[in-house]
This record gives sequence, structure tokens and C-alpha cells, in this order.
Amino acid sequence: MTDESAMSFTRRRLKTMRRKLDVILDDVIDRHKRLRNSEFGSEDLIHVLLRVQEEEKLQFPIGNDNIKADVFTAGTDTSATTIDWAMVELLRHPQVMAKAQAEVRHVLKRNSTNQNNVVHELKYLKLVIKETLRLHPPTPLLPRACKEEKVINGYTIRTGEKVLVNVWAMHRDPRYWKEPEKFNPERFENQYLDFLGGDFQFLPFGAGKRMCPGITFGLATMEFTLSQLLYNFDWKLPEGVEAEDLDMIENNGMAVARKPNLFVVVTPYN
Ligand code: HEM
Repeated sequence: MTDESAMSFTRRRLKTMRRKLDVILDDVIDRHKRLRNSEFGSEDLIHVLLRVQEEEKLQFPIGNDNIKADVFTAGTDTSATTIDWAMVELLRHPQVMAKAQAEVRHVLKRNSTNQNNVVHELKYLKLVIKETLRLHPPTPLLPRACKEEKVINGYTIRTGEKVLVNVWAMHRDPRYWKEPEKFNPERFENQYLDFLGGDFQFLPFGAGKRMCPGITFGLATMEFTLSQLLYNFDWKLPEGVEAEDLDMIENNGMAVARKPNLFVVVTPYN
């Protein structure tokens, strides 16, 4: 197959997948239009966006395509991928798993009637998530276009040229990180580094005007899901599989996931 025919084959496949995805997502949006409240009795994020769409008060109106891109494409894969990477890293580092699980069980058990409101107390779990986002940012390349000609490090970047900011490489740069390849959540304990776009060596949510607007929602999803997984289950690798056997190779995609599926032995925690 020539490069050109491979490209048009990929494009055709992409268009077919896009059509299939549209059928599913249009159906989700239609159901939200019909049922004004979620199964939990109140509005969910899609209801809110539909309401804003109907109010027509924004300078740039929201279309269904925006809802599909923002909530489903930008919002689901990124969090799901990070949860998967976090579980893999926890399985590779049993002492970190034990510490995170002890914290989660201590805090959630103490507040067993209202577990949603205590997630902010899970300090160590937050460090685990930060370290996972450092080693495995789901969006490792940030695209930018140059507004005016600039020379950076001897390279001339002309107006309109596209630049990819390699967050993945910045997150592993030994000039900014001690033992950068090591999964070590404690590194964030002693240095105040946040992902709000001001610390340029750590940009899992990007920076500037186009920075991720879903940080709070994404973090809440990851904290809630991981805390429930750690609270309710014990996790180990299948018989005969050692932590160092886990292949950390990455897949291509909108969000960079781990390529092989993760197989684990799960036991409910009583
Ligand atoms: C682990 C969770 C997430 C990560 C790591 C993440 C990361 C990112 C990154 C790196 C960007 C590009 C920022 C830039 O170019 O400077 C981005 C953009 C975006 N994200 Fe997220 N994201 C996450 C969750 C979410 C969620 C939950 C939503 C919505 C529900 C969301 C909505 C968006 C949108 C709409 C954009 C495009 C913003 C724009 O172009 O102006 N993200 N995200």
C-alpha cells in the first residue's frame, strides 16, 4: 500500500468511526433533551450545557458538536486513561498501593454515610494522581500556532507555523525532576507544584488561554473513582505475573492510553 492510499484508508476509517460515534452521542443528547433530570434526580453536565445552549446568551453559541467534543471526547478518555495508568502504577508499586489504600479506607470508613464529601481529605491519593499525570499525561503534545515571528533557542518560528509543546518530555526532564523515570508520589509532598498552568515543568492540563476547562470535573472523577476502587477491592496481579512484567508501552489516540489491557485479580474488601 502506498503512503497516499494508506492515508485515504485511514481517513475513510476515521469518517466511518465518526459516523458511528455520532449515532451513539446524538442518542445520549436526545435522551437528555427528553428527560430533564438525570436518574439521580438533578441535572447532570449535559443537561446544564443544553440549558445554556437554549438560553442563547453566550457570545459564541454552543452547538451539539461542542457538547460532544467537550464532554465526551475531551472529558471522558482523559480521566479514564489516567485512572487506568494510576492502577497500573499502583500494582507496580505495592508499597504505594498499601499507603493509598490505608488512607482511603481510614478516611472513608470514618465517614461511611457521606463518602462524596470527604474526597478532599485524601491527600496521598491526590499525590498519586499528580505523579500519574506527570509520567502519563493523557494529552502529551499541546498544539499551538505562532501569532508573530519569534526566534526561540536559535530557531525561527514564522507567523502561523504550528508548534507542538512536548509536555511528556518536560515531565521527565532531569533538569527539573529528580529521578524523573521513578514513580514517586512523595516528590510532590515537599515541593509546591501545581497543574494550574503556572509551573511550566508540569502541564498535564496545559496552560494559557486554551488550558483545560475541565480540571475540577476531571480531578473529581479521578479522585472519586480511584477512592472507590481502592476502598471496595483488593487488587493484585494474576499468578505468575510480576510487576516488572507489565509492559508500559503507549498507544496512539486522542488520549494516550497504555497499549495492552490490564488483567488483575480483584477481591471484594469486606
Ligand atoms: C485527567 C483529566 C484531564 C486532562 C489531563 C485534560 C487535559 C487537557 C489538556 C492538556 C488540554 C489542552 C490544553 C492546552 O492546549 O493548553 C485540554 C483541553 C480541553 N479539555 Fe481537558 N483534560 C481532562 C479532563 C477534562 C474534562 C473532564 C473536560 C470536560 C468535561 C475537559 C474539557 C476540555 C476542553 C473542552 C478542552 C479544550 C479547551 C480549549 O481548546 O479551549 N477536559 N484538556
